[in-house]
Amino acid sequence: MIVAIDGPAGVGKSTVARFVADRFGFFNLNSGNFYRAVALKALEEGVAPDEEKALTALAEGADLDIREGRLYMDGRDVEGELHSDRVDAIVSPVSACVPVRHIVNGHIRRITSGMDVVAEGRDMTSVVFPRGEVKFFLDASPAARARRRHRQGVSELSLEEIKRGIEERDRIDRNKKEGSLKITEDAEYLDTSDLTLEEVCERVSDKIKEYIADSGE
Ligand code: DC
Repeated sequence: MIVAIDGPAGVGKSTVARFVADRFGFFNLNSGNFYRAVALKALEEGVAPDEEKALTALAEGADLDIREGRLYMDGRDVEGELHSDRVDAIVSPVSACVPVRHIVNGHIRRITSGMDVVAEGRDMTSVVFPRGEVKFFLDASPAARARRRHRQGVSELSLEEIKRGIEERDRIDRNKKEGSLKITEDAEYLDTSDLTLEEVCERVSDKIKEYIADSGE
């Protein structure tokens, strides 16, 4: 069974997906981390995000895999390096590169093949798992998302800078040629601005339970 969750940057998708995957014993797939790994490799190899050919070659050559829940690139655990401010700064344009998206989607489909999965990102409900059994679109205002990220304490930036970064990423995410952020008709839309993470997890879990009960899975 596939649970697909999409939504903008900083809405809490990763936390919700991880929690729900643990609760149901499903595999947790964070698709943004794949784009972050490609962005990290681009930084390390000095490739600019707008150099489409070089970026595509770099992504093609990247050996991406998940081992014990952690993302490995070229045999190295990169999980701890994916959320730095420098990766944040270029990951959106990296993910806008269409050939990179096809390469990442290939890895995601290969890794999750035949599994029960909670997959989260921007195009899980629309492109990667259009036949997912349970679909959610989580949303929140830019101000609420900036506050949450600021509270995490992982960024050196001010609240206002974080908010500007989020708005800029929203703009790029919504205007991608492929895989742009959109709300599919069959996804449940949830504005989480005034909900706690626990409440969001409950709403998603209830929907999964409902599906399991109805389908007799
Ligand atoms: O979810 P995140 O912030 O870790 O995602 C990092 C970047 O990758 C963000 O700019 C959106 C992009 N992304 C995407 O284009 N498609 C996905 N399925 C997941 C993330």
